[in-house]
Amino acid sequence: MRRLPTALLLTSLLGGWTAGADDLADPQAARGEYLLRAAGCVACHTDSEHKGRFLAGGRAFVTPQGTFYSPNITPDPDHGIGHWSEQDLARALTKGIGPAGHRYYPLFPYTSYTRMRAEDISALKAYLDTVPPVARENREHDLPWYLPRFAISLWQWLYFRPGTFVADPARDDRWNRGAYLVRALAHCAECHSPRNDLGGIDEALQMAGTRHGPDGESVPNITPDKETGIGRWSDADLAYYLKTGADPDGDYAGGLMSEVIDEGLSHLSDEDITSIVSYLKALPPIHHLVVDE
Ligand code: HEC
Ligand code: HEC
Repeated sequence: MRRLPTALLLTSLLGGWTAGADDLADPQAARGEYLLRAAGCVACHTDSEHKGRFLAGGRAFVTPQGTFYSPNITPDPDHGIGHWSEQDLARALTKGIGPAGHRYYPLFPYTSYTRMRAEDISALKAYLDTVPPVARENREHDLPWYLPRFAISLWQWLYFRPGTFVADPARDDRWNRGAYLVRALAHCAECHSPRNDLGGIDEALQMAGTRHGPDGESVPNITPDKETGIGRWSDADLAYYLKTGADPDGDYAGGLMSEVIDEGLSHLSDEDITSIVSYLKALPPIHHLVVDE
């Protein structure tokens, strides 16, 4: 079932789909707020379903491996990340390692955020420091015995390739901006690619969709293949979908994609949406049929 994103329609009616960061005095923090939207942090770290406070965590992710709960990333000194330095944040986002040296489960998509530029992490930190602190205690994940935290080192060794985004001089600025948004921030490939049994992305089918998406639903092929991907969507169709969730057939994005749009992409500038579109359209088309049952 597709649900109409009412909140989204309302905000667009009110003319609100420019970055809503104008109330922040510090331009660095305002940029951080924009990046937080672009990177999709809000949807995962806010338990909207239970009216949880902004970025206070507690959202449950039910996966075949068990149930994970996002942590509180407000600046509360006891329950949030109020005592974290910028280096701590950078290490979590780019190395998947916490301040005490523990490794993070890759549901936290540091596998993509590792490509973030240092100045963007500074901006994120500046913004996170301005968020109202919430004293909400973190909840332990509910995982089977064979998934202890120390097993993550092995996973990281197998599948995690840390490293900052490097622009491709053979491509124009628009493509490079799109590549950075898609690969470092909006982590589209984390949902739109098939994974093996150990949860590693199948590199050969990156962005070509999967029948076994994060919440068990299928996720479409978004390479420009004409039959099985988005090859027949015009640039304008694609841009409109990413901003509003409305597809060329008049259907609305459902499931996780409606959140990605409501909480993230709908806040992006027209230029950034256009850059994402040009990057997607330039991907090698992959013929891969993802059947929706
Ligand atoms: C797909 C959901 C998801 C997205 C998107 C996401 N996170 Fe997380 N994040 C998690 C989960 C789940 C954990 C806990 C991982 C663990 O326990 O190993 C986590 C952990 C963290 C931590 C560690 C907190 C602690 O107390 O140790 C920080 C900081 C963090 N995320 C910040 C961010 C920021 C900033 C963004 C956006 C740039 C972001 N996250 C995007 C799900 C997400
Ligand atoms: C949290 C998982 C997730 C992330 C991250 C994500 N998507 Fe999606 N996407 C989905 C799902 C699920 C659908 C199917 C939505 C539906 O059933 O209506 C979808 C649908 C789409 C579609 C429609 C394709 C079609 O054939 O109908 C496009 C285009 C798309 N996503 C592009 C993107 C782009 C670009 C990004 C990154 C900027 C992205 N998505 C990030 C889960 C995700």
